[in-house]
Amino acid sequence: MATLPQPVSRREFMKLARWIAAVTGLSVIVYPLIAFLYPKDLSETPADPVKVGPIDELPVGASKTVDYGRYPALVIHTPKGLRAYSAVCTHFACLVNWNPDAGRIECPCHEGYFDANDGSVLSGPPPRPLDPIPVSTDEAGQIIIGEENG
Ligand code: FES
Repeated sequence: MATLPQPVSRREFMKLARWIAAVTGLSVIVYPLIAFLYPKDLSETPADPVKVGPIDELPVGASKTVDYGRYPALVIHTPKGLRAYSAVCTHFACLVNWNPDAGRIECPCHEGYFDANDGSVLSGPPPRPLDPIPVSTDEAGQIIIGEENG
């Protein structure tokens, strides 16, 4: 004959609640300590080049946004070749996007527009061009951005 589960006593419930509170409180202390001792790599520019992916997967007119050090990079396969820029707008640091229909890089925050071929400002409030990033392909057809810094 099957036995019914016993109801949890108030004492057992309070014991469980204290245990959960203790674990939560401990994690609030331990997590920042671990984050302090082992910080993420937040360098402005990575020390090593970054693989973007196979050029076969980035046809002319397509773009890809990838992590590049502390900030993302925008890689575009323009009709004139591969281009890579910091994806951070030079106005107030919003992230820019490639608009293949308009053929330009756009900042959604204040309608800043950039030329995809050289990153120069086409119109809007950005005070200077996007920061260019060296881009190439290796012998295996992988798109590589950045250079050896170390
Ligand atoms: S942040 Fe890009 S135009 Fe203002």
